[in-house]
Amino acid sequence: MGGRETVIFLALTLLFCLKAAEASQCSTHGVPLVRNISELPPDNYGRPGFSHSTIAGSLLHGMKEVEVWFETFAPGSRTPIHRHSCEEVFVVLKGSGTLYVASNSHLKYPGQPQEFSIFANSTFHVPVNDAHHVWNTNQDEDLQFLVIISRPPMKVCRHKVVLLKTSTCGGGDHLQHYARSLFIYDDWFMPHIAANLKFPIYWDEQCFQTPAKDEL
Ligand SMILES: *[C@@H]1O[C@H](CO)[C@@H](O)[C@H](O)[C@H]1NC(C)=O
Ligand SMILES: *[C@@H]1O[C@H](CO)[C@@H](O)[C@H](O)[C@H]1NC(C)=O
Repeated sequence: MGGRETVIFLALTLLFCLKAAEASQCSTHGVPLVRNISELPPDNYGRPGFSHSTIAGSLLHGMKEVEVWFETFAPGSRTPIHRHSCEEVFVVLKGSGTLYVASNSHLKYPGQPQEFSIFANSTFHVPVNDAHHVWNTNQDEDLQFLVIISRPPMKVCRHKVVLLKTSTCGGGDHLQHYARSLFIYDDWFMPHIAANLKFPIYWDEQCFQTPAKDEL
């Protein structure tokens, strides 16, 4: 092989290896049954002060009913104001902070939230579709928790349709997915219809593939 062919061969080999590595990251095969949390790769998905590892996930591990996340928020960092149609339970492992929940999300906008102190060994759940955010308001310590989230089948509408407890998507929408979805608000008074749909969620983006066929 001449010099030029060797370079091309090496480049193709590298490309192949990179593709294989990318595929295995999203594959449900070959993942060890017992995993050391300290060795799960954390990522901040472009959000400063944030760290997320998927402990058990639908795309990474083939989970069907629940997902478990391990997250750390540096002092001052927070989730956006958001809501979703799945159940969510938090177990605070370290640190402290503030939980904000607007339990009147059935109105046109989330509205003034209630404030709750959260602390190490506290646990809370977020009622389905209530807008909320979690904020590390402790200036001295990281806030770390496990998040357990259900992934019930639900429809994501193509338009910014408000998916509230009583409403359903219109029929015939070809962009229906059966997956968790997330609506993000700029503030507590942003109308539901203006909220941005975030789908797939940050950490699922690299592994998400449009399902070939709906399961239901
Ligand atoms: C888990 O991973 C951490 C970090 O690599 C390591 O220090 C620890 O020994 C591991 N635990 C076990 C039981 O292998
Ligand atoms: C959490 O609660 C359990 C049960 O009471 C206790 O054993 C543990 O020490 C507590 N941990 C923290 C960080 O307070």
